[in-house]
Amino acid sequence: MPMGERIPQEFIDELVARTDIVELIDSRVPLRKASHNYVACCPFHNEKTPSFTVSPQKQFYYCFGCSVHGTAIGFLMAFDRLSFIEAVEELAQRAGMMVPQSSKQQDYYNRHQGLYEVLACAAEFYQQQLEASAYQGQVKAYLRERGLSGPIIAEFGLGFAPPRWNALLHYTRPSLKSYLQAAGLTISKGEDRYYDRFRDRLIFPIHDYRGRVIGFGGRLLGDGSPKYLNSPETALFHKGRELYGLYQVRKSLHRCDRLLVVEGYMDVLALAEHKIRYAVATLGTATTSDHLTRLFRITPAVIFCFDGDRAGYQAAWRALETALPLLSQGRQVQFMFLPQGEDPDTMVRAEGQTAFEARLAEAVPLSDFLLNNLRQKVNLSSVDGCARLVELARPLLARIPPGVYQDMLLARLAELAQIEQTTLIRHLSPGKKPTAVPLRRLEQGAASPTRRAVAILLQRPKMIQWVDKNLSLRGLEGAGAELLQKLVDLLQNNPHLNTAALLERWRDSEMGRYLEQLAGWELLLTDEDMVLELQAALERLQVQGAEQRIITLSNQPSLTGAEQRELLALLAEK
Ligand code: UTP
Ligand code: MN
Repeated sequence: MPMGERIPQEFIDELVARTDIVELIDSRVPLRKASHNYVACCPFHNEKTPSFTVSPQKQFYYCFGCSVHGTAIGFLMAFDRLSFIEAVEELAQRAGMMVPQSSKQQDYYNRHQGLYEVLACAAEFYQQQLEASAYQGQVKAYLRERGLSGPIIAEFGLGFAPPRWNALLHYTRPSLKSYLQAAGLTISKGEDRYYDRFRDRLIFPIHDYRGRVIGFGGRLLGDGSPKYLNSPETALFHKGRELYGLYQVRKSLHRCDRLLVVEGYMDVLALAEHKIRYAVATLGTATTSDHLTRLFRITPAVIFCFDGDRAGYQAAWRALETALPLLSQGRQVQFMFLPQGEDPDTMVRAEGQTAFEARLAEAVPLSDFLLNNLRQKVNLSSVDGCARLVELARPLLARIPPGVYQDMLLARLAELAQIEQTTLIRHLSPGKKPTAVPLRRLEQGAASPTRRAVAILLQRPKMIQWVDKNLSLRGLEGAGAELLQKLVDLLQNNPHLNTAALLERWRDSEMGRYLEQLAGWELLLTDEDMVLELQAALERLQVQGAEQRIITLSNQPSLTGAEQRELLALLAEK
């Protein structure tokens, strides 16, 4: 989808202008200065000497080794695995800009405004009930018993749903009542008759990334079943995507070195109570790749916390399988197993912050967990056992994206199975092709004047000042000439655009991919030579265009008055 329809082009221009790609990439892949560029070992392929370069001038990165390349937006999309919109939002946040809501997003919000409002209204009601209702004493006693203090209760907006069938129904403003059902707050008993879903429960509001309430969890104060009740899936609430506590984590921490994933609401709250402010909980479901993608967006290290029993190990294995495709360089997944029968809530309350964090420091890296699990299934003292180990590892390894992480696991697997690493690789991926040869420098010398002019303008947009205001490539045919003319027109109207901003204009088009190639060229010319070269190329093209136009016009059976005058002028110029 062309992005112009979603976010205004001027916004992208401004965003790109305010972003420094060097600073951005350096925050994820430490860069080293090397003449006028910055370099690092490529985060997208495995290498020992740096061939990943970042150009502050072009605001563009390029790897000589594997040919990956792009702008700051492109880097975030590739490295943080963000969608275009998400990458823009992330950069905007860094630059202190607000992404204008596209009409589509606005529509979505408007369409769901009633839902957001009724959810906010319900959250308010439950909070009031916790503070002021007849049940206050009982609820407060429960909270005290669970070790939750005023500030945490307030920060997480805990509430109480009274033990009545229609307390919320009655409280809700008439204008919002019609949204209760779609928001998952009521249950229908047929024919326009409803009752409150949450009754006689401690209430945990669930917030989206902006802090809007999108659903609730509710716990019985006493025994009974179900102990926890959650909002059903609604237009706004998807269990497979949301994480309890994520909003509060983001708000309380500026930098997030690691995130702990636990199972329950109470775990998040108890940890927060003990100053462990980096825990989030899934909502009664297994961890999904959507969850993980979200987590990796804000931290490079995710630690899963599970009970040390059989069910805990099985859940951990499922989490491992989900995490494999998301493992790329710099990301880390670990597993923490608690003694049987304990959860983070009971653990941290018994031991305190320091002891809990000491346990956390002992968390098992994903690679250890994976290999230990597999080796337990085979007998490594036999050849058969080693072969079986490789077989068991094969599908798992295949799910990890190529890169350092995969290589590291391969090395360890080879060691365990006692075979040569090269043999192992041949065995695991018979069809593995060598990395593509970089396209850079190819054809550059022999490039057509059009291509050279485009490359220069793309890489040094400021040189537009040396281009004739009335430049016309009329007469020239072909996509290259058309592109060059567009580029010239665009720059003459927007001389402040930089390379990255230009590339963003052509994002997702075939031309865009061509331009990215040209942006990767290293133009081995001084700025002065470049101006001369650009002017020479444009002059040549203008002459070529004029000649072609003369031929075209002369071959036409008849000419209009304007065409006759044009032909005469062209011939005179010649
Ligand atoms: P647990 O049953 O492990 O409870 O549920 P817990 O977190 O230790 O709760 P406390 O300490 O007894 O209060 C973990 C999570 O599983 C989901 C909830 O999200 C809960 O936080 N769950 C559990 C349900 O959705 N429904 C249930 O009936 C139970
Ligand atoms: Mn518990």
